[in-house]
Amino acid sequence: MSKISILGSGTWGTALAILLSRKGHQVTLWSALPKELEQIKEKHKHPSLPEAVVSEEILLEPDLEKAVRDKEVLILAVPSIFVRETAKKLRPFLPESKILVNVAKGIEEKSLKTLSEVVQEELPSIDVAVLSGPSHAEEVSRFLPTTCVIGAKTKKTANFLQEIFMSEVFRVYTSPDILGIELGAALKNVIALAAGAADGLGFGDNSKAALITRGIAEITRLGLAMGGKAQTFAGLSGIGDLIVTCASVHSRNHKAGMLIGQGLSVQEAMEKVKMVVEGVYSAKAALELAKKYQVETPIIREVNAVLFSAKDPREAVLTLMTRDKITEHMDLDW
Ligand SMILES: NC(=O)c1ccc[n+]([C@@H]2O[C@H](COP(=O)([O-])OP(=O)(O)OC[C@H]3O[C@@H](n4cnc5c(N)ncnc54)[C@H](O)[C@@H]3O)[C@@H](O)[C@H]2O)c1
Repeated sequence: MSKISILGSGTWGTALAILLSRKGHQVTLWSALPKELEQIKEKHKHPSLPEAVVSEEILLEPDLEKAVRDKEVLILAVPSIFVRETAKKLRPFLPESKILVNVAKGIEEKSLKTLSEVVQEELPSIDVAVLSGPSHAEEVSRFLPTTCVIGAKTKKTANFLQEIFMSEVFRVYTSPDILGIELGAALKNVIALAAGAADGLGFGDNSKAALITRGIAEITRLGLAMGGKAQTFAGLSGIGDLIVTCASVHSRNHKAGMLIGQGLSVQEAMEKVKMVVEGVYSAKAALELAKKYQVETPIIREVNAVLFSAKDPREAVLTLMTRDKITEHMDLDW
């Protein structure tokens, strides 16, 4: 069994701690907010995971240096906006070639870099991998069957991490396409805002299916232009995660979108959801990337118009529905 440190005791970091500790790993959980750890310690629960128990075997450590000392694997589970800051804090404490698995989902707004690129920039000697897929913390912490994919630079690291995470309730696949996995993870949050808005506007299943299907078409187009692989966008971290995020009651991006569809302002919706709505940050970055790679992304464009130019969501839907007539798959010939 391995010594693992999880950085970030939000819902996902805590769910992974519960999952990995159940498998017999020695798990340490660190948070930038010591109060959060005290709260968990007191009740053996995370406030957003009321049905799950945080056992005493999980060490709660507010000191970052102690948390990462002598660990084989680090898991970075802070929200995307804190990834660079946390990686910077880690720098003085890392020996050469430790493995770090990034599980945050997003694109850095300023640099347009993926989060593993951000981590690699701050920690050049680290072996960065990613874990992604349709995996709500609320369900993983209750051991409901879940599947994910590990992306790593070498097969050796991928297989090592697969062994660490895999259990009868958490099936893990491996992949060499780190970039594709991260792009799918970040961009699905933008489409989920649109799917939520559709629900908020009172639309039905047809609209949702349209957003998911045309959404993955956009994600794939942009992802391919950036160097991701087509198979990845058709896999767990692509269409898989997009389906769960657009359809689930657990998704904060979907929730925020729904509130916007119901007429709340973006600010009001973010305040009501209370957690970081990562799709709002990724939406801007996604549009910038689409411009940079000259890729047509109408849903992402309309989401941006609603979020940042106060466009009425109904107007945005009308714009999408009345675009120029096109063929579904540009690369198919008669
Ligand atoms: N929740 C899920 O089901 C889930 C599943 C897969 C991936 N993810 C990804 O995991 C990441 C974390 O999500 P979450 O749901 O655990 O978030 P969360 O909203 O539950 O947690 C927020 C956490 O941010 C941390 N934080 C606050 N200020 C910080 C700072 N200055 N520096 C570092 N950390 C700080 C705190 O520990 C807080 O608990 C996100 O990128 C998310 O997309 C989440």
